[in-house]
Amino acid sequence: MTARQYSPFDRFIHGLDQALRTTLGPAPQPSRPNPAAAHAEVELTTAERELAGRLMRINHAGEISAQALYQGQALTARLPTVRDKMERASVEENDHLAWTEERIRELGTHTSILAPLWYAGSFAIGALAGIAGDKWSLGFVAETEHQVIRHLDAHLARLPEQDAKSRAILEQMRDDEARHATAAIAAGGATLPVPVRQFMALTSKTMTSTAYWL
Ligand SMILES: [Fe+2]
Ligand SMILES: [Fe+2]
Repeated sequence: MTARQYSPFDRFIHGLDQALRTTLGPAPQPSRPNPAAAHAEVELTTAERELAGRLMRINHAGEISAQALYQGQALTARLPTVRDKMERASVEENDHLAWTEERIRELGTHTSILAPLWYAGSFAIGALAGIAGDKWSLGFVAETEHQVIRHLDAHLARLPEQDAKSRAILEQMRDDEARHATAAIAAGGATLPVPVRQFMALTSKTMTSTAYWL
């Protein structure tokens, strides 16, 4: 039996379907249990709960972007093997999306109202990275993941000490993102030029500071 060949149009429709599900649909079914489940809910002050909710909203917005980046790249990546790898990574990011969304609800707040915007922007950037070629596209994944790790570290330092549930999620995400970065480099990812890395950091700064409030 031969595998079905998908046309660019098929892939476009598939991408659109993913976009709508990611930004407007319910949280995806995670493939692994939520790491927060192993920890008891603790008493948080109103200010602590609010801070944790805002930080988790930023992380959720980041995961929406991760989905979009991977899906954008999957649309334009040249080598089928790279496309497969990207799609697998995007499935793994699903867990992060579902876990952070669950925690946001528990903390009594909402996901970013600008999710469709984060998705659209990141999808375009991911698709451009895919067009630039597979070594750049993989290098882009590695750099994105490195920036996410730095950002998760900063959140782990800011989260209320006793919020073990949120911490457990971020710690597991940190491990996963590190694995994604290593895999992208091992698959031939190139180191991105400094201006590109700076532009990426600036874009993510814009998103994180907005998602804190909205
Ligand atoms: Fe992630
Ligand atoms: Fe990742």
